[in-house]
Amino acid sequence: MPTHKNPFTKSGNGHQDLGVLKGGLAIITGSASGIGFALAEAAVAHGMHPVIADIRQDAIDQATDELTARADQMGVEIIGERVDVSDQDNVNGLAEMLRSRFPDRPISLLACNAGVGGGGSVLGGSEEDWEIAYGVNLKGVLNCLRAFVPGMLSQNAPGSVMATASQDGLCASSSLYGVTKHACVALMETLHGELNGRLTSHVLCPNVVATNIVGSAAYRPDRFGGPQAVTEGTQRILDRFKSHGLPPSQCASEVFEAMRTGTFYVMAEAEDDPGYIRLEVTTRMDSILNAERPFRPRSEWIAGIFSGRD
Ligand SMILES: NC(=O)c1ccc[n+]([C@@H]2O[C@H](COP(=O)([O-])OP(=O)(O)OC[C@H]3O[C@@H](n4cnc5c(N)ncnc54)[C@H](O)[C@@H]3O)[C@@H](O)[C@H]2O)c1
Repeated sequence: MPTHKNPFTKSGNGHQDLGVLKGGLAIITGSASGIGFALAEAAVAHGMHPVIADIRQDAIDQATDELTARADQMGVEIIGERVDVSDQDNVNGLAEMLRSRFPDRPISLLACNAGVGGGGSVLGGSEEDWEIAYGVNLKGVLNCLRAFVPGMLSQNAPGSVMATASQDGLCASSSLYGVTKHACVALMETLHGELNGRLTSHVLCPNVVATNIVGSAAYRPDRFGGPQAVTEGTQRILDRFKSHGLPPSQCASEVFEAMRTGTFYVMAEAEDDPGYIRLEVTTRMDSILNAERPFRPRSEWIAGIFSGRD
């Protein structure tokens, strides 16, 4: 009888000492804000040169200014580059630029973190809603993996690759966004198998985080229908994300700890919603195994954030 027990321990190929990543580049997409910015802060603290790769130039400039003092202290260089991750040529251009400017610096961290939010349903989402969500949240990750990972595998230096999915990529999917995040988790699981331990790999699946994600339609590129006004209702939810969500720095420290230990699935749980992501995962798996209908358990905390009540 074949055994179905997973033979891989959770801490299979972690770096153990993150000092081995010092001096390399940390390419972090979507790092002008939110979780990506927190990852850039952590990269600087670990002596890596952060590449702030984002679609918004004004936000890149602001993020660079904010990081400069700490980067100087650590003796690392901040590289700010405007890139649209949904465009493979654009991402390849970034990869070529980095190779020619820094031929001797390995890529210590590739963080495919850029993402766009917004609800939307299978039947109600417009063509552009689907194109941008798929283009950034899935294809954007794939574009970066294809542009950077082959070089990381031949650089003769250790490295880590991660993507930011969501708890929505683990639970029974309930939105257009969830579809893209499930696909992101599957993409990273597939890559994990292909890497076979040569780089550490991770997928971050957080609960609600205090960032600007809810307002991302305000800077939607023209080819996806152009910027959309943030309605009063969206602004209220955005404000609630900012005041109630878990700190982006918690996501960053859990990712760096996972790089140390080799943990693949990083479920960043909100202190105010303990155990919820685990409940979502076990509920989905139970539904599959028991031939039940798909079901996503309710979180009173998240419902409160979306409804605007305490
Ligand atoms: N905030 C949450 O509650 C939450 C929860 C789970 C997962 N996530 C995921 O976390 C990731 C980071 O988002 P965040 O929450 O920090 O939000 P955020 O809006 O603060 O940051 C996202 C960044 O991505 C950039 N970006 C958007 N489209 C891009 C593109 N095409 N190319 C390059 N950069 C682009 C934005 O300019 C922004 O700086 C996303 O993938 C998001 O889906 C967020």
